[in-house]
Amino acid sequence: MKRSVTCGSMLLLSVLFAVFGSLQAVTLEVSERNSTCIKAELSALLSITYNTSSTLRTVQVPLPNTTTVDAASSRCGSVSSSPWLVAAFGSGHALGLNFSTNGSLYNVASLMLQYNLSDSSIFPDANSSAVVTVLSASAGIWAAINTTYHCASATSVGVGGQTVTFSDMRLEAYMPQNDLSSDETICAADQALTTTSIPSTTSRPPITPAPAPTPPGPPERGNYSIRNSTGTVCLLAQMGLQLNFSYVSQAQNQTVQEFFNLAPNLTISSGSCEDNSAILVLSQGRSTTLNLTFTLNSTASKYYLSGINMIANRSDMTAPFSAGNTSLNYLRTTQGRSYMCNAEQTLAVVPSFSLNTFRLQVQAFNLTNNQFATAEECQIDQDDMLIPIIVGAALAGLVLIVLIAYLIGRKRSHAGYQTI
Ligand SMILES: *[C@@H]1O[C@H](CO)[C@@H](O)[C@H](O)[C@H]1NC(C)=O
Ligand SMILES: *[C@@H]1O[C@H](CO)[C@@H](O)[C@H](O)[C@H]1NC(C)=O
Ligand SMILES: *[C@@H]1O[C@H](CO)[C@@H](O)[C@H](O)[C@H]1NC(C)=O
Ligand SMILES: *[C@@H]1O[C@H](CO)[C@@H](O)[C@H](O)[C@H]1NC(C)=O
Ligand SMILES: *[C@@H]1O[C@H](CO)[C@@H](O)[C@H](O)[C@H]1NC(C)=O
Ligand SMILES: *[C@@H]1O[C@H](CO)[C@@H](O)[C@H](O)[C@H]1NC(C)=O
Ligand SMILES: *[C@@H]1O[C@H](CO)[C@@H](O)[C@H](O)[C@H]1NC(C)=O
Ligand SMILES: *[C@@H]1O[C@H](CO)[C@@H](O)[C@H](O)[C@H]1NC(C)=O
Ligand SMILES: *[C@@H]1O[C@H](CO)[C@@H](O)[C@H](O)[C@H]1NC(C)=O
Ligand SMILES: *[C@@H]1O[C@H](CO)[C@@H](O)[C@H](O)[C@H]1NC(C)=O
Ligand SMILES: *[C@@H]1O[C@H](CO)[C@@H](O)[C@H](O)[C@H]1NC(C)=O
Ligand SMILES: *[C@@H]1O[C@H](CO)[C@@H](O)[C@H](O)[C@H]1NC(C)=O
Repeated sequence: MKRSVTCGSMLLLSVLFAVFGSLQAVTLEVSERNSTCIKAELSALLSITYNTSSTLRTVQVPLPNTTTVDAASSRCGSVSSSPWLVAAFGSGHALGLNFSTNGSLYNVASLMLQYNLSDSSIFPDANSSAVVTVLSASAGIWAAINTTYHCASATSVGVGGQTVTFSDMRLEAYMPQNDLSSDETICAADQALTTTSIPSTTSRPPITPAPAPTPPGPPERGNYSIRNSTGTVCLLAQMGLQLNFSYVSQAQNQTVQEFFNLAPNLTISSGSCEDNSAILVLSQGRSTTLNLTFTLNSTASKYYLSGINMIANRSDMTAPFSAGNTSLNYLRTTQGRSYMCNAEQTLAVVPSFSLNTFRLQVQAFNLTNNQFATAEECQIDQDDMLIPIIVGAALAGLVLIVLIAYLIGRKRSHAGYQTI
């Protein structure tokens, strides 16, 4: 009896954690002999897939604000060893960044992710109790020496089948002083943003307590692609996306609803592809990030959209809104085909957040020549196609009836002439 209660509340806790676990900024420093050599201020979301006894499951784990630097494995480095920043949290989980430099630039040479599958609060029903460690090659994070790497946009890095998404990141290694340098190297994603002006959100919640806002017009169609390490496209998507979410406005002290059309010309896409999962990360400005996870079931030769996660930061929020669901089964398609849906589709994620798609075509896994394969069309489109077919068939039938009537009429009148 007691056992089932504990189990239930634990499940509820982990669901709450998964859905409302908000992204927090953490500050981490590595020092030796009173001088700081690495400092990082960042938010990170870890997307980890693991085996339960019956299925694969993916959890989204935000780096909590209780994260600390693991002094035993972090180091400033020397001539013979490279610097490491290892951040530890919970029971045996860690995220590590290894740096290298060539004198004028420094970069994150590799990323290390360690997670403890025995921790059932994060990995419920895991069929293993192992502590797993995975390493990535270069993370694409680099800056000029004596400058701070600054990236507000979300950046995802694939790490041995798992994904780490950084946002709001300031970082420096090989530091000349004890604090972050005021000179900054701005990441490419942010530079793309500063060259264009960021408009305010498409639809702001109303000031006066009002009923639900009317949705804006359909979003523009964007063209997004992800390449794998060999440079070939491994995920291709063309679609218009509209976020529909509600949150508690601090200014209004009430729940407000927002429709947000993703503007393709202001959206940066990133992501990663693995054998059985592919992630597309779309960030508009510094305030809105959407993660779409596709999963391949190779036994069934099907892939599907298994996870949708969203982070939105608005000025009248107490904390950034973060919502997601990793047990979805949308856009299900045969492996090696693309999925198409021209009609609007609503993908429910959690009660407070849904995603509307427009004029969508996507393909993850098995792309050839960086192009879509034959499309499988959604049911709504097929139903829409049915109407012109029915109308066409009815018209053809009518023509046939008129023709038969004419022929019969002609035969009759012909016969009439003969009797005279
Ligand atoms: C570090 O700083 C403290 C206080 O500022 C000082 O007492 C200590 O000697 C310093 N240690 C080293 C190795 O410089
Ligand atoms: C799940 O288990 C299978 C079979 O043991 C293994 O091949 C696969 O790598 C595992 N997946 C993960 C994410 O651990
Ligand atoms: C865990 O589950 C996978 C399939 O889901 C299976 O292949 C694997 O052998 C299991 N591992 C253990 C340690 O039970
Ligand atoms: C892994 O988690 C379990 C359960 O929370 C804990 O007992 C164990 O000490 C952890 N392992 C490590 C290496 O921290
Ligand atoms: C460091 O690497 C960058 C990029 O590869 C290059 O432009 C630069 O010249 C290198 N600097 C030195 C000192 O080798
Ligand atoms: C970085 O700063 C240190 C200390 O101020 C200085 O000695 C060094 O020459 C600088 N390096 C570069 C490449 O500017
Ligand atoms: C982005 O697209 C919108 C709509 O087409 C347009 O109004 C806006 O000027 C564009 N912004 C930039 C920076 O290109
Ligand atoms: C937006 O979400 C709300 C709440 O889930 C729902 O009632 C409404 O129909 C949705 N509107 C659109 C246009 O998707
Ligand atoms: C917000 O609303 C709640 C209930 O509607 C009320 O109890 C609370 O005092 C309000 N807070 C502010 C700051 O107005
Ligand atoms: C893959 O599909 C098969 C057959 O439909 C199903 O039995 C199995 O549970 C699926 N595996 C996963 C990991 O969802
Ligand atoms: C959210 O946005 C506000 C400004 O609108 C900013 O001050 C704050 O740092 C942002 N928070 C995060 C976690 O990005
Ligand atoms: C996540 O999605 C599944 C499948 O659509 C749904 O049953 C479940 O209720 C969702 N979870 C939450 C917390 O809304």
